[in-house]
Amino acid sequence: MADPVDDADRLLPPAPVTSLAEHLRQGGGVGLQAALGMEPGEVTDLVDRAGLRGRGGAGFPTATKWRGVQATAAEHGGRVTLVANAAEGEPGTYKDRVLIAQQPYAFIEGICIALHASGAEHAYIGIKEKFTRPVQRLREALSEAVAASWPGAERIEVVTGPDEYLFGEETGMLEVIEGKLPMPRIVKPFEAGLYASTTQSNPTIVNNVETLSHVTRILAHGPDWFRGAGTEGSPGTMVFTVVGDVAHPGVYELPLGTSLRTLLVDIAGADDVKAVYSGVSAAVITPDKLDTPLGFDEMQEAGLGLGSGGFIVYDSSRNMVDVLSVLVNFLAVESCGQCNACKLGNMEMADVLSSAQRAEATQTDLERMLKRNQTVTDQNRCYLPVGAQLLVGSTVQAFAAEFAGTVERGEPTSADLPTPLIDHIDEDSGEVTYHPRYHLKQHDWSYSDVDPVEERRRALREMR
Ligand SMILES: Cc1cc2nc3c(=O)[nH]c(=O)nc-3n(C[C@H](O)[C@H](O)[C@H](O)COP(=O)(O)O)c2cc1C
Ligand code: SF4
Repeated sequence: MADPVDDADRLLPPAPVTSLAEHLRQGGGVGLQAALGMEPGEVTDLVDRAGLRGRGGAGFPTATKWRGVQATAAEHGGRVTLVANAAEGEPGTYKDRVLIAQQPYAFIEGICIALHASGAEHAYIGIKEKFTRPVQRLREALSEAVAASWPGAERIEVVTGPDEYLFGEETGMLEVIEGKLPMPRIVKPFEAGLYASTTQSNPTIVNNVETLSHVTRILAHGPDWFRGAGTEGSPGTMVFTVVGDVAHPGVYELPLGTSLRTLLVDIAGADDVKAVYSGVSAAVITPDKLDTPLGFDEMQEAGLGLGSGGFIVYDSSRNMVDVLSVLVNFLAVESCGQCNACKLGNMEMADVLSSAQRAEATQTDLERMLKRNQTVTDQNRCYLPVGAQLLVGSTVQAFAAEFAGTVERGEPTSADLPTPLIDHIDEDSGEVTYHPRYHLKQHDWSYSDVDPVEERRRALREMR
């Protein structure tokens, strides 16, 4: 089908931008120059008029975040810091790595603009150590920006972090930057940020890679240009990824407001949609919801979530017990255990689902799981169990007959599905591979020597 976004209006360039000189030839640097000619508040006003909303998951208005942090610093003291979130640990998502590979300069320019607008003294880019190629690309691009004396570039530091999902949670990332494990904090970064103390709140802005990359183009072309794509409440384009049971998995930049059907069916070639997940923090998308527009409010009104735009598609050959089992296992493993209801609740739900796969669960177990699901968010520090609650509640409700039937039949299900966590992106073909060892990861984040999938297959062989 025809490409709905003109090349000139894209964040993702048609071909990778390989040097700062090339970025400048293509109109780069204009946004930063424009920002430096304005008062910081004017830059924030411009981003506000553009209506930019965060692309990291929650769709929070970027200008409101920047203003909030400055207000906290003015009221409670301390220095403002900016953190660019490149952890990209959401299953199904890999757009930030593609953005870094193809256009790292727009991202770095966006950080320089945000440093000026927010009055932040320092910026950190938090990225997983295992993303070796994107880390290297970022470091090269950053050195070019420093050598070219881009104002602010010398105050940007790349911090590599662990593989864990919670590294991407904003307060987990602050912990890692401070040299600790990614254990989320109770206090939000805009209230108390990096190296905060009783006398200094040090409010910190955390923004996603794509969000900051859009800032560059808003400053270069203006808010009206940005609003030329998207909807009133969700302006601009967004970079989506689609994986799973589709003919054309990949990364696609589209105007917000485009329908799910256009992305998943017409573009990615999903011709047999049973269930779709936008990461693991939102309700299941069933085929009757495919005409929902890809907008933050539109998705929410339909009882769904846009998340970070990474979609995982399952077709009718999949048993939803297998699907939910692999997704809930991910959340149970990644939960850090600081809140009992989250860790124990997710573990118990994962356990019931895995028992159902082995034909060892009863209807009472399913009911117990749904009861657990109601309390999994009790006293939660972070959003992880809220995602679990939406995922489990919506999936069991939408596929109630299949869950009941699987348990009643008393036969083991046929498939242990892979965790759709994107491990590797082939630079030439664009093909992605899932994390090959995720099924060995245990609840304390260590990796087992015993393969549970192999164990289950062995048990099944013995049963037959
Ligand atoms: C468990 C969990 C994992 C997250 N992982 C990521 C991530 O990998 N990348 C990201 O940008 N945001 C992630 N987020 C969202 C961040 O906490 C934060 O909201 C985001 O970086 C803000 O950026 P934005 O305002 O530009 O959207 C995660 C949130 C949660 C609860
Ligand atoms: S809610 Fe869960 S993941 Fe978040 S801090 Fe508590 S235990 Fe950890």
